[in-house]
Amino acid sequence: MTEASVIMAKSVTIPELTDVPVHVGVIMDGNGRWAKKRGLPRKFGHREGVKVFRSITRRAKALGIKYITFYAFSTENWKRPKDEVDAIMELFEKNLDEVKDFIDEEIRVRFIGDRSALSPTLQAKMLNTEKSSEHFTGTTMILAINYGGQDEICRAAVKAAEKVKNGELDTADITPDVLSGFLDAPDIPPLDYVIRPSGEMRLSNFMIWQAAYAEYYFTDILWPDFKDEDFDKAIMEFANRGRRFGGVK
Ligand code: IPE
Ligand code: IPE
Ligand code: MG
Repeated sequence: MTEASVIMAKSVTIPELTDVPVHVGVIMDGNGRWAKKRGLPRKFGHREGVKVFRSITRRAKALGIKYITFYAFSTENWKRPKDEVDAIMELFEKNLDEVKDFIDEEIRVRFIGDRSALSPTLQAKMLNTEKSSEHFTGTTMILAINYGGQDEICRAAVKAAEKVKNGELDTADITPDVLSGFLDAPDIPPLDYVIRPSGEMRLSNFMIWQAAYAEYYFTDILWPDFKDEDFDKAIMEFANRGRRFGGVK
């Protein structure tokens, strides 16, 4: 039986949800610690983390979440030992070959981050995956690779500056709305909810612009141990948050 058919065969109960966030961000953290606890090299944690990522993507679709962004590799993660970075890049390439089952399930796949530093093979696979899934309108899964919130804002500012230089944009017209039009995926709504496992309570440069009014959910569970039920629990908690966006309610 293939992995996909096992998932299909498993009977899944979908909880009754009253208020599902439109855009969920997930900071996949704790892979290294998961491996260390087992006396394994860190890359085994990343491999296990990919399985969870695949499962949670499907779960998000089942729960009716429109957009889910996973933080997979940050602009700061290049600081890690070369063998770990290489192992992560290899996992991306391998998994983009296997992404066909997401396409079979009609999940749209997109990427954010600075692609220019990635290998030409990986960049080609990313483009190919985006193209083969661009017509799906249900759930979009966004993978943040070589992504940094500050880097994204900086690149957006450069794009805006180019337009000013060419006389296509007036500085007086630069508002948050206009600037957000230069971000990597300008058509995707801001984050409603950010989930970070592994006990760390920080954003680590994840979508700092889009998270301006997000709600946060932190859990000590390490990402490779994060189950569909843990995701359900996090999503259910979202309904308890009273959002005001600076207004009065
Ligand atoms: C997250 O897990 C994966 C990446 C950042 C690529 P970590 O590798 O950061 O795991 P910990 O935080 O060291 O346990
Ligand atoms: C954030 O995790 C980046 C990703 C999950 C891709 P890190 O493990 O890199 O974050 P810090 O170093 O603990 O802040
Ligand atoms: Mg970490």
